Formats: sequence, C-alpha cells, structure tokens
Amino acid sequence: MRPTSRARRAKSESGPVDLRSDTVTQPTKQMRAAMAAAEVGDDVLDRDPTMRALEERVAGLLGAADSLWVPSGSMGNLIALMAHLTRGDAFLAPAGSHVLEAELGTAAWLAGGMPRPLEHDGGPGKITPDAVRRAAGGPGPYYTMRTSLLCLENTHNAAGGTVTAPEEHAAVAAAARAAGLSVHLDGARLWHAAVALGVPPGALTVGADTVQVCLSKGLGAPVGSLVAGSAEFTAEARRLRKMLGGGVRQGGVLAAAGLVALDRVDRLAEDHERARVLAEGLREHGWQVSEPETNIVLISVADLAGTLTRFEDSGVRVAPMAGKVRLMTHADLTDGDIDTALDRIGPVENGVQDPAPAHLAPAGPGHRSLRRAAGSAGRAPARRAGR
Ligand SMILES: Cc1ncc(COP(=O)(O)O)c(C=O)c1O
Repeated sequence: MRPTSRARRAKSESGPVDLRSDTVTQPTKQMRAAMAAAEVGDDVLDRDPTMRALEERVAGLLGAADSLWVPSGSMGNLIALMAHLTRGDAFLAPAGSHVLEAELGTAAWLAGGMPRPLEHDGGPGKITPDAVRRAAGGPGPYYTMRTSLLCLENTHNAAGGTVTAPEEHAAVAAAARAAGLSVHLDGARLWHAAVALGVPPGALTVGADTVQVCLSKGLGAPVGSLVAGSAEFTAEARRLRKMLGGGVRQGGVLAAAGLVALDRVDRLAEDHERARVLAEGLREHGWQVSEPETNIVLISVADLAGTLTRFEDSGVRVAPMAGKVRLMTHADLTDGDIDTALDRIGPVENGVQDPAPAHLAPAGPGHRSLRRAAGSAGRAPARRAGR
C-alpha cells in the first residue's frame, strides 16, 4: 500500500483531475504577495524596475546579453520570427512545432515566413544537422526562395515533451549557422529539458540567436514569457512588442510573479516523476502510451473523439494533441491526483491501434481529424456530478 502524505492526498477527490495542460495552475501565495508588493514604473515610457530585474535574471540564465518580457510565448515567438524574417523568406522547423501548428499561422501571416516542416529524422521532436543542411539549400537562380531561419523547440510539445540534449542542439544550430540561417529556439518548456538532463538552461541555447521561454507553464506564473538575444535584438523586439500591442505599463506586478516562478525550476522533477508514474499506470491498464521524457504523456487511441469524451465523463480532463490524447502533469497536482486519474480512467476496453509514429503525426490528415475531435470534445456531455 502506498504511503498517505500531503503530497499523496488527492486535491481532486470531488472535482475533475485537470491534466489538459501545465498552464492550468493557480499562482502561489508567494506569487500573489510578491505581486502586491512589487515596485513598479511605466515600462512603455521608461522601464519598470521589477520587469527589468526579471529580464536581466532570465538573460543570465539563458546565457544571452539581454531579454524582454512579453505577455505570452506566442508573442515571444512571433517577435523573434518578425525580427529574423524578411517577407517571403522560408523558415525550417521540426514538424508539429508550436510555431507551425498552434500560433494561428502568424509566422506566415504577420512575420511573412514560408514554413518548411522537417520530419523528425533525429528521433521524436528532433531533426539532424544533415536534414538542416539539405533543407537550407544552396545558391540558385534569382527567383529561388531564400531560407533564412531555423526554429527549434525544446522540449517538443506535440512529440510528447521530448528533450534535445546540448550536443544534439549545438550540432543542429551549428549546421544552420554554417548554412547562413539564423536560429530561434522556442523554449516554452526549456526549463523542463534542463531539469530532465540535469544541465543549466544556458547549456541548451548554444548557437541560438534568440530564445523564448515561458513562466506560465510548469513554473506556474499567471502570465509572462521572455524573449532573449543580443542587445540589438531586444531593442528591436521592444519596438515589435509595442507594434503588436504588447507594451504594458506597470508590468512589474506581473513580473514579480515571474521572479518567484524562477525559483520553482527544480520542482519540475516532481512533475516528470508523476508523468512517469501516470504512464506506467496507464500501460498497466492496457493503454498504448509514450515513454515520457518530461511532463507530457501521449496515449495512442483508435477513436480519439470517443476517448476524449470517455475521459471527460470519468472526471479526467485531457487534451487532443497530434491525433493522440495528451495528459500533462503540473505544479497543482499531488501523487493522489495521479492515483485518482488512473482509477477513473481504468483499463482500456476496446483496444487501441495507432498506425503513425508519435513524432510524424502532427502534419497532414491526422491533424485535421484532431481538429474534428477537438470540436466534438467541446460538445462532450457534462462531467458526472460529484467528480
Ligand atoms: C512549445 C510551445 N511554444 C509556445 C507556446 C505558446 O505559449 P503561450 O500559450 O504563452 O502563447 C506553447 C504553449 O503551450 C508551447 O507549448
């Protein structure tokens, strides 16, 4: 029998266990206290001192000259792409990347980039230096499309929170630079990669010109991301942020929560362990589950819409991702919540098949059916009362 402790007690005995995302967390008491006490200024006119402190601290952690606070990861990525791309340039990114699939096409629409997804030839979520060299192309006639950017993602969300190690990242970034490309790293969950590997976050940014990191995912801040790079880049990023309506005034109220969030990086190891326990339990129940490298578990199912409805009805909230069921562990869960989720989900009943490897699924018809599934999940029957 497992021990009963504070960490094991289920927070969700009477409500749903929310495994949709690591963004569902509530700000901690320390965050709320820090927000109330924050020293602030008008960040659009001058600088806000608390935002500045956060920007300097994150730049230091990432090994960058400077960083800029932005309201969201999507805005951070967009600003970086706008800074790197000239309209009509092609950019490369691993298939299923957030910038390709989940930012409403802003990479093309607002930054003017032609997306070129690369298959995960280096393992789930990962591409090889050879693939980058091939896709970057060489000189051609004047009408040849110019490829100017590689956009990486660590951890790779749609591939199941997969981790790229420092030497793999550095080799791919070096290949891109040798081919004349700039490199942007979407590090929304770079903290998770660093904890999983036991390396400082700065070890995972080598060769990247710009990096985006989120405070509102595993670290639990209510809002905020940083986009980091050279001093010239952050000066331009500040202009682009304003252009997108992202200049905030007394932003220190928000940045104060971010500074507290940065003290929670090591805690991510608990989320990774809970994801491992969750995956193991699901496998024991007969589900076809990915081996989590961080805080994301993907289940392959034959009937995505039906499975989402079944989970929702049982009191376990999950999300569709790349044709699979995604479960994410986060700071507001206990070990007991994982036990509760496993009890509620129970054994697989109708068998599961999955023809597509996890890392190749995001593009193509699989993704279209994912959208349909998401729509029908939205219309799913209400959760049972008392869950
Ligand atoms: C890999 C990745 N990049 C970027 C984002 C965008 O972050 P935001 O929701 O803050 O815009 C997300 C969000 O989940 C993500 O998973």
